[in-house]
Amino acid sequence: METAHEIKSGAPVGILFVDDEMNVLQSLKRLLLDENYTVLTANSGEEALEVLRNNPDIGLIVSDQRMPGMKGAEFLEKAREMLPDAVRMLLTGYADLNAVADAINKGGANRYITKPWNDEELIQVISDAARRYSLVKENRRLQDIIGKQNEELKRWNSQLEYFVQEQTLEIQNKNKELEKLNEELKKNYKNSILAFSSLIELRDRSTGSHSRNVAELSVKIARAMNLAAKEVETIMTAALLHDIGKIGIPDVLLMKDVDELDADEMKQYVQHPVRGQAAIDRVEDMRDAGILIRHHHERRNGKGFPDRLSGDRIPPGAGIIGLADFIDRCFYKAEGSEPVEFVMKKVVKELGERFDLRLFNYLEKAVRETYAGISHEAAFVEMELQPNGLRPGMVLSKDVKSGTGLILLSKGITLNGKHIESIKRYYQLDPSNTGIFVLVKR
Ligand SMILES: [Fe+2]
Ligand SMILES: [Fe+2]
Repeated sequence: METAHEIKSGAPVGILFVDDEMNVLQSLKRLLLDENYTVLTANSGEEALEVLRNNPDIGLIVSDQRMPGMKGAEFLEKAREMLPDAVRMLLTGYADLNAVADAINKGGANRYITKPWNDEELIQVISDAARRYSLVKENRRLQDIIGKQNEELKRWNSQLEYFVQEQTLEIQNKNKELEKLNEELKKNYKNSILAFSSLIELRDRSTGSHSRNVAELSVKIARAMNLAAKEVETIMTAALLHDIGKIGIPDVLLMKDVDELDADEMKQYVQHPVRGQAAIDRVEDMRDAGILIRHHHERRNGKGFPDRLSGDRIPPGAGIIGLADFIDRCFYKAEGSEPVEFVMKKVVKELGERFDLRLFNYLEKAVRETYAGISHEAAFVEMELQPNGLRPGMVLSKDVKSGTGLILLSKGITLNGKHIESIKRYYQLDPSNTGIFVLVKR
């Protein structure tokens, strides 16, 4: 049958009896013969301390008070230091009440039993004490487990935090790397487009920086119309590459004016927007631009090429590029001291039939800004200056190139201190054989 003091712990509770009289120890042992305890005995306080040292699992200590040498109260006090959880009892005669009070007050003993004892009562007291000890021990064991589990949880938690932080950091770093790569890709993409557009300009030298002018003017018009940034970018790409299809057209044909082409030549010429679209079709990001390239020669009245689209079926970006293309060509043929007026008159003639009338409102300012070098001719005079002669506020009338032909700043830019500093630096590193061309007020 399971007894109370065996609850959970399993092993029998250890009891140490201490008395200088052997017959007392014998009778105590006998008393517990049928009970499930591990009983140890000692003849003196000193011997009992030795037993405790070797048996730290003892749960109950019962000591006589009157012994030669160390008294029971003193021994129990020492025993408490060694095994604070063990239940300690003083066994004493009625005459020793002072010693009992002392032992209990100083905390050495939990209770006392008077000699001679009643057997049944003593068995009950010991059983209660053993149960109490088992509970304390069990409680301590559970506390230990909880403590260890808490420690482990804390450790897991801090490890988890560490991992999460590490992962977050890694993700952030990856993101930064990706952003950087993305930036580089974008830069490379833009540079590739610029490289292509200068190839086109090389092919057709008669028109100088035609692609870049058309792009600049188209973007200015698109921005004035408040088109979305993405659309403006597509327009810029398409404008820079609008004549890329001309690369396959024979030189003789390019030298002529469009009006001078015969029927066969015209057949070849009208293919250039389609060839242009096909040329960049492999680059998925450029397909929207490809559509604008295809339609940059369509006309509002449906008499353009290659698809004879009319009115609003022509993509707006293509309409803008077509107009900018026309304007830039006009500038190369411009006569007189007021080229902007000359060009605007030509544009007005073509509005409605060839170009979208609605574009007109955005036009003049954009044209004046793009062709600053020409449009400001009346009020400004062009001068060639050395870097030291440059002043903030001056407007570049030609691209500034280094000695090896690198374009440092594009024409039309209004110089600030930073620009001037970088021109000076480049003119030292890679000297140009010309000065810098700027517009200066008359
Ligand atoms: Fe064209
Ligand atoms: Fe063109």
